[in-house]
Amino acid sequence: SWVIEGAKTVASVQPTMWGIFFEDINLGADGGLYAELVKNRSFEFSDPFMGWELSGKQISDGMVRVLNERTQRPTNPRYIRIEANDLATGGLELTNEGFRGMGIREGRQYDFSLLYRQVTAGLALTLELLDDSSKVIGKANWRPQSNAGGWQKGSVSFGTSGGAKKGKLRLTITGSGTIDLDQISLFPQDTWKGRKGGLRADMVQALADLKPGFVRFPGGCIVEGHELETRYQWKKTVGSVDDREVSINRWNNEFAHRPAPDYYQTFGLGFYEYFLMAEDIGASPLPILSCGMACQFNTAELVPLDDLDPYLSDALDLIEFANGDSTTHWGQLRAKMGHPAPFQLRKIGIGNENWGPQYVERFTIFQQRIKAKYPEIELVSSTGPFSGGPGFRYLDSAFRSMKADLIDEHYYAKPEWFLKNADRYDKYERTGSKVFAGEFAAHVEGLTGSDRNNWRSALAEAAFMTGLERNAAVVQMASYAPLFSHIDGWQWAPDLIWVDNLNVWLTPNYYVQQLYSLNKGTEVVSLTAMNVPLTGQDSLYASAVLDRPAGMLIVKIANVKGVAAEKNIQLNGIRRKGKTISETRLQHNDLTVFNAPGEKPSILPVTTSRSVSGKQLKVSLPPYSFTVIRIPCH
Ligand code: AHR
Repeated sequence: SWVIEGAKTVASVQPTMWGIFFEDINLGADGGLYAELVKNRSFEFSDPFMGWELSGKQISDGMVRVLNERTQRPTNPRYIRIEANDLATGGLELTNEGFRGMGIREGRQYDFSLLYRQVTAGLALTLELLDDSSKVIGKANWRPQSNAGGWQKGSVSFGTSGGAKKGKLRLTITGSGTIDLDQISLFPQDTWKGRKGGLRADMVQALADLKPGFVRFPGGCIVEGHELETRYQWKKTVGSVDDREVSINRWNNEFAHRPAPDYYQTFGLGFYEYFLMAEDIGASPLPILSCGMACQFNTAELVPLDDLDPYLSDALDLIEFANGDSTTHWGQLRAKMGHPAPFQLRKIGIGNENWGPQYVERFTIFQQRIKAKYPEIELVSSTGPFSGGPGFRYLDSAFRSMKADLIDEHYYAKPEWFLKNADRYDKYERTGSKVFAGEFAAHVEGLTGSDRNNWRSALAEAAFMTGLERNAAVVQMASYAPLFSHIDGWQWAPDLIWVDNLNVWLTPNYYVQQLYSLNKGTEVVSLTAMNVPLTGQDSLYASAVLDRPAGMLIVKIANVKGVAAEKNIQLNGIRRKGKTISETRLQHNDLTVFNAPGEKPSILPVTTSRSVSGKQLKVSLPPYSFTVIRIPCH
């Protein structure tokens, strides 16, 4: 039989355990979490009219041109100028197609806004929301309120009489005159927490339901960019949304299952919004910054060590932005943006999947400079993917010898790798640098899309995660990757959550993460069979934690065989409270099933209760199952 020693605390579970990793990949931010419906709202994509269609008699009755004022408006140089003479309805139309269409809900309110500058007064707009068959489901008129020179903000709100999965926004221009337009925007009012220009409520809710310990952002490869020029620069993502400079997305066209030349970052979801979201869902923020090396696939671009200052300032200033009070430059900006209280930043990552001595040299400088000013901030270094290879071993030993706080390991591997490596951290030193399993996912071969999130992959992750949990003395944080994927615009699979413009679909992998996170406990206790941890004996993987404040012993067991098993668990050093225990289970006899977007989910957690007395707990473990048992105790 198996034995749990309740009085033998093996390690404390960190409050940060089981977090999420967000990156703008697979339309994760623009076209996803960021609820903006208009694509290329400021005409800054490489083709200024990408996403827009011009129709009507524009040659005879009106003209639309793109103007570029790089000197006067360096962060948002382009806008459109519309000139027209006696333009009747239907004379000139501008239609925006949305990211992959616009998801519109019936009976809801929408906020349209834009920047405008009147050159010669007299033009007005009619806005129409069109459904999938081009029927009008929402309409409003807008005319400039002000004739003053200079840019003004205009807005109008309106309701919808129908819904659409792939709607469009049509602007019809009427009258005579000349007007400049920019930042043409449409948001639903029912965003997360009802914030203007905010985030998609259903997507944030899916994250909140994970009760994550941390949010790692904004990437991933996004942090580094293909070239240093297009790396993620957080300072360009804060302050007024209208002044945030658009940048090409690192994933534009990359690995595309369908070409995505229209993938840009508007940064409407920028660092302030990331911090705010993390706070909203009770997670610690974990920003990752460029270390001065471009993306792993482009080893050519490297910032010379003597030129690292701007990168170092980015790190130091970010800490001030998050934690500084309003007497500091960056703390004041945060306060002005609406958050006078600090964001409680405790950890910051430098570099993502960079490697070689060049990375170590750069990280060393960051470590010296950041620790000198902010000794309390923990630094996350990254050992890149392919954990176990020579590159990994070189970085791991370099970071350990410089006493790095946390080392971020990534592994995308076959389900078999996860099963074989469930004991990976049993062998790690208990002292010294801690591990952050920052990106992992089991990749099933031979599949390509959401079918990759099948039960085989999720069950392998559940089994592997018993090893992460058991080794809380070593592994302090962990996150699945990537997080989101849009069914009509993705470049990477599997992913934790699949979405379209209106819906969210939770994968079996999501439920595995959630079961760990909701049952993380406060300390690991010993669970063994014949005095050794359960790392695949009889195809069973198990770990146990105590949740002291809740008075709960929690046991997690993965049975990765297609045959049921029965086990007796001896509960030593546990004072049970009452007789009722609960069991929450994910199970399916077919490892190939997955929760197909748009269909009824095949895998969902099911909770049952039963009565058990005494110190022996008999558990039945169905074929291909993951079970979380909660046993009340004193
Ligand atoms: O999660 C997708 C990518 O995988 C990340 O951007 C990168 O860090 C890793 O290679």
